[in-house]
Amino acid sequence: MPSAQELNLIPPFENESGDCKKYNCDVIEATLQEEVTLRLGSRTLPSRYFLAPLAGYTHLPLRTALRELGGIGLATTDLILAPQLISGGRKSRELMKTSDQDQPLSVQIFGSKIKDLIKAASLLEELGYQGVDINMGCPMGKINSSGGGARLMCDCDAATTMVAAVVEAVSVPVTVKMRLGWNAEQITAPELAKSFEQAGVAGITIHGRTRQQGFHGKVSLEGIRQVVEAVDKIPIIGNGDVRCVEDAIAMRQFTGCQAIAIGRGAMLDPWIFRKLKQFHQGVTPTAPTADEQIDFLCRHFELMLQEHGEYATVLFRKFAGWYGARLGIPEDLEDRLRRIETEKMFREIVREIQQRHGQRVSTTATALVKVPNGPVERW
Ligand SMILES: Cc1cc2nc3c(=O)[nH]c(=O)nc-3n(C[C@H](O)[C@H](O)[C@H](O)COP(=O)(O)O)c2cc1C
Repeated sequence: MPSAQELNLIPPFENESGDCKKYNCDVIEATLQEEVTLRLGSRTLPSRYFLAPLAGYTHLPLRTALRELGGIGLATTDLILAPQLISGGRKSRELMKTSDQDQPLSVQIFGSKIKDLIKAASLLEELGYQGVDINMGCPMGKINSSGGGARLMCDCDAATTMVAAVVEAVSVPVTVKMRLGWNAEQITAPELAKSFEQAGVAGITIHGRTRQQGFHGKVSLEGIRQVVEAVDKIPIIGNGDVRCVEDAIAMRQFTGCQAIAIGRGAMLDPWIFRKLKQFHQGVTPTAPTADEQIDFLCRHFELMLQEHGEYATVLFRKFAGWYGARLGIPEDLEDRLRRIETEKMFREIVREIQQRHGQRVSTTATALVKVPNGPVERW
């Protein structure tokens, strides 16, 4: 196995242009000799590259638009507070929205009370959802202060009791998404992974940072590797800072994880899953043409209109900062896209993009720093 140094792993996401040509692919084996599909409990997933949940972004319209490009093995909803899911609140119903095209899908739940998680998971099973994911990675104060999210990683026994109870309650596969631990002094992920496996989870996604790190610093591939080594046979899904084919392959080779979840990298490059599929087929990954780039922009907007009506224009603004660099949108047009108010404005901007596609100076995505900032205690 090549060393991390040989692979030139992995610079912090926030400093990246999203352009990914720095790795020496010769160091990485041309294709990994393995099944393309992955077993996750009773599910067989069509690819080992998953869309990681990004609350507020990876809703049904984006998931659908990305799935149409090919290569996604599994997507997960935003985290949904278990008691809200049970009471059927409007927000949770929106987050649970799915369709025949939006498969395979897991629904992510969180909470601090076992009975809530059991009820929520059972309800999801009754409604026909095929996978339940428990969030133990969220670093946000409002979620941790109620004992949910990454806070659960601080008490291994309680976390395991909770996970075991959910596994026991449903017959669909249960997975957990977590970080390496609360902080550098409390790296609990390997111990938790071992106990969760014994409790019957089908797989674990591990974001290679601690809660204390938030979204800063480097993802620790060594940390992910320790989790892989801690379990017997369930798949570990590595996560964090994967922006291109080479990042994904390097993470897999260095950590031994069986799958990868990609979040922000999918908004920087919606074709990343297709490229990974091509890579595994032994084909050189192809960049999208200008038409494909503009079509994707329009398709995502179209799907948002179907879902939200004219309000889609407001909701679409935050995507402009992610899409600008990769979709060849000149800076002034990206700026206008970030302020659109009507569908008509969107159409006008697209017409101008068609005429001026690629006339962009910066290759850095404007939105790269859109993660919680400042001391983690204040999030
Ligand atoms: C805006 C935003 C929202 C997120 N929402 C969720 C979420 O709802 N559930 C979850 O498990 N992780 C969530 N995450 C964490 C991501 O799934 C992922 O673990 C993290 O961004 C690192 O992966 P990436 O570098 O591929 O984005 C979120 C991250 C961001 C930046």
